[in-house]
Amino acid sequence: MSDSRSLFEEALEVFVGGVNSPVRAAVRPYPFFVKRAKGSHIFTVDGKELIDYVLGYGPLILGHANEAVLRAVRDQIEKGWLYGAPTEVELKLAKKILSYVMPKGKIRFVNSGSEATMTAIRIARGYTGKKYIVKFDGCYHGSHDSVLVSAGSAASEYGVPNSLGVPEEVAKLTLVARYNDIGSVESLFKKHRDEIAAIIIEPVIANMGVIPPKKDFLKELGRIAEEHNVLLIFDEVVTGFRLALGGAQEYYGVKADMVVLGKIIGGGFPIGAVVSSREIMDVLTPKGKVFNAGTFNAHPVSMAAGLATIEVLEKTDALKRASSVAGEIAKALDDQANDLRIEHWVNRVESMFQMFFTEGPVETPDQARKSNRDLYTRFHEEMIKRRIFIAPSQFEAIFASSSHTREDVEKTIEAIEDSLKVVVREH
Ligand SMILES: Cc1ncc(COP(=O)(O)O)c(C=O)c1O
Repeated sequence: MSDSRSLFEEALEVFVGGVNSPVRAAVRPYPFFVKRAKGSHIFTVDGKELIDYVLGYGPLILGHANEAVLRAVRDQIEKGWLYGAPTEVELKLAKKILSYVMPKGKIRFVNSGSEATMTAIRIARGYTGKKYIVKFDGCYHGSHDSVLVSAGSAASEYGVPNSLGVPEEVAKLTLVARYNDIGSVESLFKKHRDEIAAIIIEPVIANMGVIPPKKDFLKELGRIAEEHNVLLIFDEVVTGFRLALGGAQEYYGVKADMVVLGKIIGGGFPIGAVVSSREIMDVLTPKGKVFNAGTFNAHPVSMAAGLATIEVLEKTDALKRASSVAGEIAKALDDQANDLRIEHWVNRVESMFQMFFTEGPVETPDQARKSNRDLYTRFHEEMIKRRIFIAPSQFEAIFASSSHTREDVEKTIEAIEDSLKVVVREH
């Protein structure tokens, strides 16, 4: 039986950096290889059992291999898994999502959050006939050219705000504003008044650690979008069905013109979706002239898993439970760091949170960038030693699920105490 270290050495021969998505390489001392997972626990090939707060980087709000989701997936697989033709299950999931996100709207399913933001931006350009988009420094919207400008997540962790390979001519069409700074948006509109198709934003930044919006920031954005006749796109790939069933729109009481979804709506299977009004969505092919297509669009297994997940969220207090787990752990981080007199700042919105090793406050990506990332990395490493898997990067969110138990929380709080002590002693 191979162990993680030897498997990683093999992986380095065939995958760049040994992984297929960069953040996975950040796990210290080397990425563990997974044998299986259930509930809140991951079992590694090394025989270790870890409590998981990464949860596939967000989709697994119910934890791993939830029974209801598993049943739905099994049922679907037995009936075949790809038809290249419509299914009832995609209709059911679409209606369910629309009922919470935009009751009179339409939806297009794609395969990832990246594809969804790419499609949303194309729709916005096609619909408005304008070229520019406004994004916010530190927001991550996936791995395609238009949004790899001042992006968060792995793009910022690796210090490549503008990826090589993105032509300047493309990057130029993405104007960058500062999150939580409405003045920065207004000045972009002064300069490019009639050229902007859309504003795209993570309503809560989940890719710079966690950074919530200041009071009325999102409402103000809505006002600017309306005044200038541009589309406000909420990228709810992380916040969708996590903050509330209606996502950040419901949570903050703000309406967007377009909502991009992913992660949770596929129950842990590949998915992305764009939601908007009928008028806007009708510019898409086959009705309109904005092209989108996909062999795997509305994949029946993703549809079944997503539908089962949302049904559990509807029937149980899963969102509340995940949020209360996050609340306890975020509080423990804050209390422990206070006791040990470590400079720190904790941000939490419901079941997503992060601790920054900086004096704080952390209300902007620039403030997040001031945190001591080496300390965070050491903290992560000490947590892994104690069998707790938190995001390996300061610039990712820590997620809680409804599957975390009291025992998990207690073990996690103990590990936080011990890990922070080690980090402080070394510092
Ligand atoms: C806010 C946000 N948008 C878009 C994406 C891209 O989604 P995907 O990784 O499914 O392409 C992510 C991924 O983490 C994300 O956090």
